[in-house]
Amino acid sequence: MPAFCNFFSILPFSSASQNEVVSKRVRAAEQTATAPAAISCWSSNLSKYLVTGAAGFIGRSIAAALLKRGESVRGVDSFITGKRANLAGLEAMDFLEGDLADPAVCARACAGIEVVFHEAALASVPRSVADPVGTNVNCVDATLNVLVAARAAGVRRVLYAGSSSVYGDNPELPKREEMLPLPITPYAVAKLAGEHYLHAFTRVYGLETVTLRYFNVFGPYQDPASHYSGVLAIFCRKLLAGEQPTIYGDGEQSRDFTYIDNVVEANLLAAAAPAEKVAGRYMNLATGAAISLNQAFNILCGLTGYRGKPAYAEPRAGDIRHSLADIHLARELLGYTPKVDFAEGLRHTVAWYRESGAGA
Ligand code: UD1
Repeated sequence: MPAFCNFFSILPFSSASQNEVVSKRVRAAEQTATAPAAISCWSSNLSKYLVTGAAGFIGRSIAAALLKRGESVRGVDSFITGKRANLAGLEAMDFLEGDLADPAVCARACAGIEVVFHEAALASVPRSVADPVGTNVNCVDATLNVLVAARAAGVRRVLYAGSSSVYGDNPELPKREEMLPLPITPYAVAKLAGEHYLHAFTRVYGLETVTLRYFNVFGPYQDPASHYSGVLAIFCRKLLAGEQPTIYGDGEQSRDFTYIDNVVEANLLAAAAPAEKVAGRYMNLATGAAISLNQAFNILCGLTGYRGKPAYAEPRAGDIRHSLADIHLARELLGYTPKVDFAEGLRHTVAWYRESGAGA
């Protein structure tokens, strides 16, 4: 039975840890936010945390970690790329099926929430090249809708899945946050637009926002079956099935591949960090080590028993040659250190694909 609740009388709002400037902005935002007197909700359980993209790879992993900690969690997903199967094990989560491109879905999702983990996106560079409008709707419009709804609902903090792609063509390594972003694909532009919206919502409305610029995240639950999947997920699936993978380019391009547990941990740290340190900030979230595709392929051959060679094809449009993060800022602001390195993460990942049969 859906319950009807006036969330504004019971918001878990605390500004004790905020500095004065942020507190003033929050109070101003509270006064000006246009809040409906009563909002219908589909569950009588109020959740403290909202995870968007909860049926996707990263969202699912964050939701699972929160539930494990005993937190109350709501998830929302449209299943455009999320998978129903990923909700297995998350039964304690309130779940809302809906599209964040619809402001009404965002309002329902944010009602009564204190902290939002905004992970939903069409997370693929080549998909954005094929469909820039779809990427804009699902990354930019959806993010703006989430922010508007979060503000109206009195949400305290929004964490955002940023992307290393925003550094684009800038050849300098490692990537540092003060570098000028030079996005070269619709995906990178959309992710950067989202960041700017977060920053604006902190500056003008006092909403605490934090962007974590993820660098090529991999691990269990990443969809390996789509043409638009991350390269390690695709390689794991193919090599375990004895199929030849394709490397676009010469395979010497490199990435700062980041294991999912590091990303989950950083998100939990960012949710708890003092506002005066993190509100309105963006920071790299990575391991700080570069691995080429050829190296990754060779390690995967050892883990999967695959004995063939990869096929080499033309480089992909919009591809970046090298990507490597400086992670000092996340260390300083969040106390983040990557606990799982690439080799260990890849072992866990291969074991998971093998055991779960995902994508087989
Ligand atoms: C980019 C972002 C990353 C973001 C991701 C979302 C950069 C540096 N990184 O990842 O932070 O999370 O988008 O999707 O912009 N490849 C093959 N064979 C395949 C598939 C891919 O060789 O079958 C190659 C690609 O051409 C690319 C590399 O592997 O050179 C990595 O590709 P992918 O996993 O799609 O991620 P990025 O585009 O690097």
